[in-house]
Amino acid sequence: MLDKNIAAMLNDQINKELYSAYLYLDFANYYADEGLDGFAHWYEVQAQEERDHAFMLRRYLINSGVRVRFEAVAKPDKSFSDHLAPLQAGFEHEQYVTSLITAIYHAAFEQKDYKTMQFLDWFIKEQGEEEATAEDMVKKMKLFGSDARGLYALNQELAARVYAPSATGPAM
Ligand code: FEO
Repeated sequence: MLDKNIAAMLNDQINKELYSAYLYLDFANYYADEGLDGFAHWYEVQAQEERDHAFMLRRYLINSGVRVRFEAVAKPDKSFSDHLAPLQAGFEHEQYVTSLITAIYHAAFEQKDYKTMQFLDWFIKEQGEEEATAEDMVKKMKLFGSDARGLYALNQELAARVYAPSATGPAM
């Protein structure tokens, strides 16, 4: 049986992942409106991945005999001054999510909850990758985004992202 505090943290993380999906879909709305369909597509795929993370956490709790309870998902309320702003907000958001996952991991460590630590290993790795990708996008946008041809090329690059369900993640 899961420790009550750890179960509550994992339950709360479902909400955070669903918010991440909502936030990134909002980024996609912004880019779609700006005519940058490749950027919009990239964030649509990212939203699908965030939803998958929520599903994984939900399934882990259910498999651990925990009754999952949902809270309201917050409204994305960011407005953007330029095309770089969502990328920077995305990088900051991933750093925040990493801090949340790390806090749950630490709580599991303190409880000697090795099962949850093992479950979260995938998320720790995923956060490392997501932060690196988000930072890379910020760098590329700063380097190439102010030039029309550079922006066009970036848009083409991001349009090529393919959604892959997180089949390698924790058992569903
Ligand atoms: Fe589910 Fe982008 O962290």
